[in-house]
Amino acid sequence: MSSSCSTVSQGREEGRKTPLPGPILLLGAPGVGKGTQAKELVKLWGIPQISTGDLLRANVAQGTELGRTAKEIMGRGELVPDSLVNEMVAVRLAQPDTAGGYILDGFPRTLVQAGWLDGRLAAQVTGLPVVAVSIKVDYNQLLRRITGRRNCPVCQSIYNVYGKPPQKEGFCDVDGAALAQRADDTEKVFEERMRAYEASTAPVVEHYRALGRFAEVDGDRPIAEIAAGIVAVVERLRQ
Ligand code: AP5
Ligand code: MG
Repeated sequence: MSSSCSTVSQGREEGRKTPLPGPILLLGAPGVGKGTQAKELVKLWGIPQISTGDLLRANVAQGTELGRTAKEIMGRGELVPDSLVNEMVAVRLAQPDTAGGYILDGFPRTLVQAGWLDGRLAAQVTGLPVVAVSIKVDYNQLLRRITGRRNCPVCQSIYNVYGKPPQKEGFCDVDGAALAQRADDTEKVFEERMRAYEASTAPVVEHYRALGRFAEVDGDRPIAEIAAGIVAVVERLRQ
């Protein structure tokens, strides 16, 4: 991967040479804006977003064996077993579009997943190490974001009835599909997801903070401003 790091990122200002970002981890509690920011970064860098939540929901929708196992666990707001999630991520990372980097959204979520990912990256002779970005937003704001969120089931665009409504209420701006609310976007399940975050994922944030190539960003700002901040820290940490 390192040889490709001198190429021009797709989607960036024409003629401006910037290195491809390599693997980026977006960490943070439910609703901080990992998915929203990942989509902004995809536009800027042209590397894929790999959301373990989206991949699991696709498995649920397709009724795969993984989806059948994950459905109830996700519905309770608990974490899907590490071995299943790691295997799913391994399959996705084997696809060629990840060669210049990728944005992992919602993975790793446990220290076991982090150890698995670190080992995998360390085994690559030419790969760049990860840059981890943790997004912070306070609890009350998160609850409002979660209960106000609407998703497009076709293109996965993310809206919010309070802060980012579609132009036509209830329908996606991109493809006109009827917007949906995630089954786990209730106050009760959100509280369980927060408990899972504090117990299992907050230690992952500390793991990457200790390793360096880590930044924490304030997620309670306009979306474009947060994205610009993430780009700036990634470029700084990659120097
Ligand atoms: P997942 O889908 O990853 O859910 P999550 O971590 O709870 O995070 P969310 O997707 O809810 O929030 P987000 O941070 O992406 O915020 P978004 O950008 O949408 O996981 C779901 C479940 O799958 C888990 O509970 C678990 O069961 C399982 N799972 C997934 N990964 C796993 C793993 N690695 N291991 C084990 N199990 C796993 O934004 C939220 C809302 O806020 C939107 O409405 C948006 O429009 C709005 N918003 C965003 N940014 C802003 C802003 N700057 N200002 C105002 N509003 C904003
Ligand atoms: Mg998300």
